[in-house]
Amino acid sequence: MVSRVIPVEPFDLVIFGATGDLARRKILPGLYRRHLAGQLPDNARIIGAARSEMDDAGFRDLALKALEEFVAKNKRVQSDIDAFLARLAYVAIDATGEGGWATLKERMQPDVIRAFYFSVAPSLFGDIAERLCLHGIAGPDSRIVVEKPFGRDLATAKALNKILATHFAESQIYRIDHYLGKETVQNLMAVRFANILFEPLWNAQYIDHVQITVAETVGVEGRGSYYDKSGAIRDMVQNHMMQLLCLIAMEPPYHFDPDAVRDEKLKVIRALLPVGPEDIVRGQYAGRKGEGYLKDSENPASRTESYVALKVQVANWRWQGTPFYLRTGKKLRGRASEIAITFKEPPHSIFDDAEGWRENQLVIRLQPDEGMNLKVMIKEPGPGGMRLTQVPLDMSFAEALGDEGTDMPDAYERLIMDVIRGNQTLFMRGDEVEAAWAWTDPIINAWEARTERPQAYDEGSSGPEDALMLMHRDGRRWREIR
Ligand code: BG6
Repeated sequence: MVSRVIPVEPFDLVIFGATGDLARRKILPGLYRRHLAGQLPDNARIIGAARSEMDDAGFRDLALKALEEFVAKNKRVQSDIDAFLARLAYVAIDATGEGGWATLKERMQPDVIRAFYFSVAPSLFGDIAERLCLHGIAGPDSRIVVEKPFGRDLATAKALNKILATHFAESQIYRIDHYLGKETVQNLMAVRFANILFEPLWNAQYIDHVQITVAETVGVEGRGSYYDKSGAIRDMVQNHMMQLLCLIAMEPPYHFDPDAVRDEKLKVIRALLPVGPEDIVRGQYAGRKGEGYLKDSENPASRTESYVALKVQVANWRWQGTPFYLRTGKKLRGRASEIAITFKEPPHSIFDDAEGWRENQLVIRLQPDEGMNLKVMIKEPGPGGMRLTQVPLDMSFAEALGDEGTDMPDAYERLIMDVIRGNQTLFMRGDEVEAAWAWTDPIINAWEARTERPQAYDEGSSGPEDALMLMHRDGRRWREIR
């Protein structure tokens, strides 16, 4: 299968915070891969902007090191690397002062799309937005890209939205949730809305429950001080898991169009019931000999959760009575992001073999080994009468799609190209982010008002014991994390 690459319009992309971790790990390598794919026109330029004094050559050097570290060896073609580096420039800039802005203005190309990536602390968003407009560098057609965390509660998210809205229209603001850039996450919409097969069954009448799992094997990996102030709820649930839940639960939008999709997601978030303490379990990983989260976070008294499991109810006609169980955690037994949809029993069984019968289950694997698995019942072979057995209809996207399935663009590549194309479908709208915080805030506040600690779980396990109980008491069980 041949991949279709449609070149984007010429652009200048300015990366604020260009010497930081995100730029080195994701943004520059992602842009290089798009260059390699032939998607960047000749006059697409990338301008790094940061506080450090550096010239263009210094920035190209930094970018080269980033490519060597974060781009697969078989993708590092010397002539392409040279051509990519030639697109790069650098301006030393003082986000809160006047230094560098006139130079940045001079270095921008006329008549191309202008995009500004704010890969900096949210406290600088206002200063940068203001100066971009004040100096006439950004105009009504420019775009700005902002990263998570978008606030740490409803009040801070509202304040950020307000600051950005002073200088830019909502149609110019691209709030990144990198989960939406993952191919398999977008596939959730394709599976639901491009097939007739699933949608008639996609409701509380036929679905018993939904499990959404994002399990990681990594710990907080040197990000302890950030993570300790966030915890799994702010870091994963308010954004990534919420987006997955929305894509599974939303009504069909009238068109695959930014506001149509985001309107439907917003309705799901607004329909979420508050989560009481009995429906949430928090865990913290513990290692041997005093290792573990408390050490990694350098906070021996930390009550921050590195694992959370919740039972969530979407209060609308479609989902009344079908719970969504969400869990995410660090240092777990395996790395697996997946959505499992468990269907109900047939209304009446004509077979006597109740023992062999299992519910149909559709598992969509987001990563790794992206694919789908539909468990169906068939007759057990042999002469022993009508005995039943369950078998998987399993599909791996890599196998089904050949090279294209193994060579999927990274989330950031896709999202940055969407910014240049001016397509906001896979970005969060301001009201969506606020609604997500409005639901998350009471969960966080209720926890902060209490004194207990998260339940300890062993590194390499599948999470705290109480998380198992959350399902068991409803007569259900989690899928195993492998
Ligand atoms: C980030 C979180 O947004 O997503 C991290 O801050 C987490 O804590 C990461 O590890 C997971 O992303 P991915 O793409 O590896 O599933």
